[in-house]
Amino acid sequence: MKAYGREMAGVFSSTWNGAFPWRALEKMLGSKLSEGGAWLDFACGTGDLLARAQSEGFACAGADFSRAQLKYARKACPEATFVQGPMQSARLPGKYDVITCFGDSVHHLQNRKQLHQFFRNVDRHLAPGGVFVFDFNTFVRRLDRENPYTGGAWTYRYSGHFVCVEFEYDEDARTSEWITTGFVKEGNRYRRFEEKHTLRAHPLAEVDELLKARGFRVRKFDPNTRTLRPRKDSIALYLKCWKE
Ligand SMILES: C[S@@+](CC[C@H](N)C(=O)[O-])C[C@H]1O[C@@H](n2cnc3c(N)ncnc32)[C@H](O)[C@@H]1O
Repeated sequence: MKAYGREMAGVFSSTWNGAFPWRALEKMLGSKLSEGGAWLDFACGTGDLLARAQSEGFACAGADFSRAQLKYARKACPEATFVQGPMQSARLPGKYDVITCFGDSVHHLQNRKQLHQFFRNVDRHLAPGGVFVFDFNTFVRRLDRENPYTGGAWTYRYSGHFVCVEFEYDEDARTSEWITTGFVKEGNRYRRFEEKHTLRAHPLAEVDELLKARGFRVRKFDPNTRTLRPRKDSIALYLKCWKE
């Protein structure tokens, strides 16, 4: 079953764009934002974040393995350079002052090896003095049956689309299957589509270890608290990584 195909990209661009809290990014990036430079977004999706970075004066680039998502990204950010390919190995020209990866995208990496390859690829593209920021979901700590992230279903109705996502968590494999059934409106009719995404609940300790092994320093933030200070029960974390 495909992932992030044409219908899903249509739903994504009309519903989920702008989900990242820019305020938190502003605080985390500090003077990096006003300095400008080059910005690379891995798993850039429909290009929402890059469009914002471009409006802040950055020269932008993005990579994503979905051709359909990139079609929207090219429209959102016409001056940016895009490459279709996996975040673990996609090569973009030049080095970047800010590298991002948002929207739970690192959880699309399936195992420790892919996570390691991704951090190595980030390292390859990071300019001296640059920062790498990505989001991380701690849903692994919330394995109760009532948590829709790990066992249950969500339904949405947005902009004329209907989408149902069922979740199944495999505790041993640490993977969550997201089975999506959707209906997109085409004229007066609805067309059905299906997708399956497998997300891995990477252990935070593993992420820390792999980043450290590549020589990164790491600071964690919780975008949902006023001070951005992480709590024990933080559901989402932003990790800011840099080298000294
Ligand atoms: C949930 S979306 C997030 C998109 C965007 N970062 C955002 O925050 O709106 C996940 C994106 O990751 C992309 N993706 C998943 N696995 C990938 C991989 N291994 N390499 C590159 N892109 C990947 C998908 O095509 C999709 O566009």
